[in-house]
Amino acid sequence: MKAAIYPGSFDPVTNGHLDIVDRAAKLFDKLYVAVLINVDKHTLFSVEERVALLKATTAQYPNVEVVSFGGLLAQYAKDKGINVIVKGLRALSDFEYEFQMALTNKSLNPDLETVFLITSAENMYLSSSMVRQVAGFGGEVTNFVPDCVSKALNDKLKMEDERK
Ligand code: PNS
Repeated sequence: MKAAIYPGSFDPVTNGHLDIVDRAAKLFDKLYVAVLINVDKHTLFSVEERVALLKATTAQYPNVEVVSFGGLLAQYAKDKGINVIVKGLRALSDFEYEFQMALTNKSLNPDLETVFLITSAENMYLSSSMVRQVAGFGGEVTNFVPDCVSKALNDKLKMEDERK
């Protein structure tokens, strides 16, 4: 059985991420979507919330499992017996960072290959940070994320506003 891991912050999951999940789920027998537990980075959604949103939006794929991980991805993949990382590649601006991560992971675990899927054209510009920013200023994000994510964003931002 060929398994792969698709890691990310997913804060929150966007249509761009889901396009990669859809395509990777067809390429591998099993796809683990792995949410990073970012200890040193402030995220809008907690790891539990990010996992829940991913589970809700990938429920239709029987071979996709949403997990969370902390520490090194290369070690996590080794522990799970996985030797393929899937990443989405958008504009050229992603390349240098992704190149660095792929080489770092490879040097930490020589059996680990990173496979890049080129983003679909309509998602070229899409990122979680852009979605957070648009939603934060009250903009419409329904073209960028599934409905349940858009609702979760509105609820979260409303809660943050009330706390101020
Ligand atoms: O969605 P992101 O924030 O671009 O995802 C980045 C992620 C989670 C893939 C990357 O930060 C990661 O793998 N972090 C785990 C720590 C690690 O293994 N670092 C060394 C390789 S960069």
